[in-house]
Amino acid sequence: MKFFIDTADTDVIREAQSKGWVDGVTTNPSLVAQSGKPMEKLIAEICEMVPGPVSAEVLSTSYEDMLVEGRKLAAIASNVVVKVPLTEDGLRAVHSFTEEDIQTNVTLCFSPMQALLAAKAGATMISPFVGRLDDISHQGMELVEQICQIYDNYLFDTEVLVASVRSPMHMLQATQIGADIATLPYKVLKQLVRHPLTDLGLEQFLKDAQSIPKA
Ligand code: G3P
Repeated sequence: MKFFIDTADTDVIREAQSKGWVDGVTTNPSLVAQSGKPMEKLIAEICEMVPGPVSAEVLSTSYEDMLVEGRKLAAIASNVVVKVPLTEDGLRAVHSFTEEDIQTNVTLCFSPMQALLAAKAGATMISPFVGRLDDISHQGMELVEQICQIYDNYLFDTEVLVASVRSPMHMLQATQIGADIATLPYKVLKQLVRHPLTDLGLEQFLKDAQSIPKA
């Protein structure tokens, strides 16, 4: 499974990268706003740091404006993936980007039929938002299961990028289902490492090691 980090904070990206945890980066307008940096400057900086795919989301909502904006984002670096919301105009733009060999990440996906349309439009990646479905008492990971089954049935190349990840349990379920990618906050990434028995075991080893005779 590829791990993408869901942040626009370059310090966080750098720290996660130092641990080998960054196969790519996803940003969204909320994360970019938190960075306090202009979009194009920020995306250029991240693309410089991370060789893997870097998702940058268009802010336009009309087909024509998405095309103009998406082409500009794609021109920043070869590893830019243009992120497009799952709307009619968005899918039309994805279809055009596909014809122009511009990679796309279709975001804000909340149903399997939305994901089917994204794949048919030629999306490079699809981002089902599992956490936001859980937030309204739906089973977010069920959506991931449905999308993976549909994509397998019809041999779509679109990669399933599990997004809105809130916990290690989401990651366990996503890996068991066989999703291609997960994008996760650094906080969740760090949680994947921790286990209380590991801490206890290490503490005991170090305590016992005190009685090892010195050479
Ligand atoms: O960036 C896409 C997605 O991962 C955001 O999820 O629900 O934490 O804002 P959320």
